[in-house]
Amino acid sequence: PLRIAVLASGRGSNFAALLAARERGELAAEFVLVASDKPDAGALQLAQLAGVPHCVLEPKDYATRRDYDFAVFERIAASKPDLLVLAGYMRIIDGDALKPWVGRMINIHPSLLPKYRGLHTHRRAIKAGDDEHGASVHFVTAELDGGPVIAQTLLPIGAGDDEHALAERLLPLEHQLLPAVVAWIAADRLLLREEGVMLDGEVLRKPLRM
Ligand code: GAR
Repeated sequence: PLRIAVLASGRGSNFAALLAARERGELAAEFVLVASDKPDAGALQLAQLAGVPHCVLEPKDYATRRDYDFAVFERIAASKPDLLVLAGYMRIIDGDALKPWVGRMINIHPSLLPKYRGLHTHRRAIKAGDDEHGASVHFVTAELDGGPVIAQTLLPIGAGDDEHALAERLLPLEHQLLPAVVAWIAADRLLLREEGVMLDGEVLRKPLRM
């Protein structure tokens, strides 16, 4: 099975969705580590309950962001994952630290990339008057939220939507999107090549929509 490490800062519902997919037999994977920058991250509690090795590394214990990021990746490397999933990881990662992981690291981001990289995506989509919103899973590169997009899930923005309503409706869609992408990787169907994202041997010309 695919060895998966997870980096998460918060609640951990996307990690929970991965665990659930595995439970249902939809994901041939072994979770080898959950690492977090926040001692109170929900993802750590979930890991504890599921018997997944987990650790906290706190930025305040390191002199620089770069030192921190290298320490995080050293810890992750020690668990020998095939894939690193950023599931609600809220830090910007040093480009040199992540370089060895390009092609082996994916992120879920709550917008229809390339729209709204960074924070407050729901609010920005509403403010822009968009009629649709969504989430994207992409391969991570040194460009923040800028790596090749694999797949997206879409939802219409309603007239009365505020950012909380939108986030709440998007989340269950994220919980389908992320495990689906991870399952393709686990099945050796999806990978990153110089030419782009390849699914079943074909270069994706645009993100998959689901
Ligand atoms: C999710 O909505 C995810 O898309 C977003 O944070 C939330 C984490 O929820 N990720 C980012 O904003 C990444 N910059 P979770 O902790 O319940 O999985």
